[in-house]
This record gives sequence, structure tokens and C-alpha cells, in this order.
Amino acid sequence: MKDSKVYIIVAVEHNTGIGKNGKMPWDLKSDMKHFREKTVSTIDSEKRNAVIMGSVTWESLPEKFRPLPNRKNIVLTRNSEFDAKNDDVLVKNSLPEAISDLKEDKDIENIFIIGGASIYRQSVDMPEVDGIYITIIENSYDCDTFFPQVPGRFNKETLLKEEEENGTKIKFYLYEKE
Ligand SMILES: NC(=O)c1ccc[n+]([C@@H]2O[C@H](COP(=O)([O-])OP(=O)(O)OC[C@H]3O[C@@H](n4cnc5c(N)ncnc54)[C@H](OP(=O)(O)O)[C@@H]3O)[C@@H](O)[C@H]2O)c1
Repeated sequence: MKDSKVYIIVAVEHNTGIGKNGKMPWDLKSDMKHFREKTVSTIDSEKRNAVIMGSVTWESLPEKFRPLPNRKNIVLTRNSEFDAKNDDVLVKNSLPEAISDLKEDKDIENIFIIGGASIYRQSVDMPEVDGIYITIIENSYDCDTFFPQVPGRFNKETLLKEEEENGTKIKFYLYEKE
């Protein structure tokens, strides 16, 4: 098996909220840029990264942005009739199977779990996950979905950068296993 890393990537507000009514409660260009850079960039220019998401998060992407470009998109659903309307998109009904198939795929460099809440809840304790990229937005938003507590095994915290957008402080962290 090749050495793909598996990361969760998420943006949370002050109280760990991540979404409201199936959407992101904010529109912050600096976080979108960070998300794009982390999930697109590869060391090997012949490879792509993979992004795994639940069907609700897939549906929340504007049609013109899906599949997310320059990344292999995988949608998790239990609905056998689900149609992503794109031949490059993989539709899977099991998260562990999606990860192990991608780890075997020589064209994939790293794997990013990009939400939403139910997929974060299922993946945060999976031993396959090597790290968590968390953007902390230092502001409060009205949210109905939340990110679970970061497990203690991710005990190496790196502050990657700090930015400010429209008066809101944003901190970009990576949590890894020591
Ligand atoms: N702040 C952030 O960084 C961020 C990132 C992503 C999303 N979000 C937010 O999170 C919210 C969406 O979260 P959510 O929990 O409602 O939806 P979700 O996790 O995106 O999708 C849930 C769906 O995924 C499928 N699914 C879940 N577990 C599965 C499994 N083990 N096997 C197969 N399919 C599975 C099911 O689809 P079917 O019902 O089709 O079977 C389920 O209904 C939105 O508000 C979104 O904006 C925030």
C-alpha cells in the first residue's frame, strides 16, 4: 500500500459551529483559499488529492463548483439511486471502504475528509486519520451543526498562520499525532 495521508479539514466558529440549514454560515475568502491550497496541492504533479464528502455537503456546493476541480471527488451516500452527473465522481456507501480504495489508488496523493458534520463525527476517531486542519474563526455565528471535540491523540498543535478578514480574526491550525 502506498503512503497516502488522510486529513480532516474543517472551519469552525468560536463555539465549534460549522453549518446552518445545510450551508456554511460565513463567506470568508481567506478560508476558501486555504481550503483550496491544502486540498489541491500535491508534491507529485502527476497525482491528484481526493476529497471525501457526505451527500448533503455535495448538494450544498453550487453546481458550477462541483465536482471540486483538480481533485478526485468522492460522495458518500446510502442512496443507490444517487447520481452525481459526472463520470469522474466516485459514489460510495462506506467511508472505510472509500479510504482504503483511495489508499490503493496510485494516482491519488493525499485524502481529505471535507465534511459535513456526520462525516466528521464518523471519521474523527478513525485510526486512518493522520491529522486535522482546523480553521478557527474568532466570531460567533448562528449554527445548527457542530464539529466534535478533537481527540487527545492529536496532541501536536501547529499554528500555520493568522489572518484577518472584514475585522474577523482567523487562525489556521494543523493537529497531528506526535
Ligand atoms: N465548516 C465547514 O468546514 C464545513 C464543511 C463541510 C460541511 N459543512 C456543513 O455541514 C453541514 C452538513 O452536514 P450533515 O451532517 O448535515 O451532512 P453531510 O455529512 O454532508 O452528509 C450526510 C449524508 O452523507 C451520507 N452518509 C453519511 N454517513 C454515511 C456513511 N457512513 N455511508 C454512506 N453514506 C453516508 C448520507 O447520505 P444519504 O442521505 O444520501 O444516504 C447522509 O445523509 C452543512 O451545514 C454544511 O455547510 C461545514
